[in-house]
Amino acid sequence: MSQIPYDAYVQAADYLRTRLPGATPTIGIVCGSGLSSLADTLEGDVVVVQYGDIPGFMQSTAISHKGQLAFGTLSGKPVVCMQGRFHCYEGYSVQQATFPVRVLRMLGVAALVVTNAAGGINPGYEVGDVALIADHLSLPGIAGANALIGPNIDEFGPRFPSISDVYTPRLRKIAAKVYLTHTALREERKFRLHEGVYAWCYGPCYESRAELRALQALGGDLVGMSTVPEAVVAKHCGMEVLAMSLVTNKCVARREPSMIEAAAAELAGQSLVEVAEEFANSDEVLAAAAARTLDMQEFVRCIVKDI
Ligand code: 6GU
Repeated sequence: MSQIPYDAYVQAADYLRTRLPGATPTIGIVCGSGLSSLADTLEGDVVVVQYGDIPGFMQSTAISHKGQLAFGTLSGKPVVCMQGRFHCYEGYSVQQATFPVRVLRMLGVAALVVTNAAGGINPGYEVGDVALIADHLSLPGIAGANALIGPNIDEFGPRFPSISDVYTPRLRKIAAKVYLTHTALREERKFRLHEGVYAWCYGPCYESRAELRALQALGGDLVGMSTVPEAVVAKHCGMEVLAMSLVTNKCVARREPSMIEAAAAELAGQSLVEVAEEFANSDEVLAAAAARTLDMQEFVRCIVKDI
């Protein structure tokens, strides 16, 4: 696995410091699919830096991801938004995909707010609901796609970091309080808030039925293709992490229709009733994310105020 040298992080951070307006950001916000307009709500002197201008940065190839950092003020606090993130399904290694997180840490970011669009495995989750990520299930990580593999860079953190409480309880509680006290978000039934386990899959395929059943059996409530590598690296370098998923589609893991039963029925002159099924598709995912964008903006803005 290719290792990114410490110096590469230093160079990217040094470059960004030359572009920074005034106050250095203390909060970083990773804007997920369809949520990048969060950065359009930044106040103050906003500075936008294209990923392509930053030494060592990758290019974002994912649809609906812009590929730039936006520095500004949100709820009076200096923040930086990543408009566009890097996914492993784009062909980036876990180290490459998490490169920006460490760079933000070097700039002074102490809390990372990560958003994503995810499938809801938990049958109680509906499209448009939001879930705070309380823990994750990282099958790729367990199997070797862990961003911390390789010689440890001690400047960032310890060789064997604890990954319990990677999703900082303090921040989850802040988010919950915002939700519970924010009349417009809650009582006007904008969205329901859950707290769940995010199962990270490499992608780019959405999961098979059997995979979804397995993830559900293992305790997953949400499934998606991002966030976990970023959270692991952020935790390693001492950041607080708040991650949340917007449920963009329901992943009901029904059994495969049996062709043996279908064949037997046909031979007996009967026809089985076909159950219409919906499978995840990216248009639906983006549309659901877009529909919730303004509420998510408001939610994040209020959370940032209280961090
Ligand atoms: Cl169903 N699966 C994965 N891996 N990512 C998603 C998704 C599903 N829905 C939104 N993102």
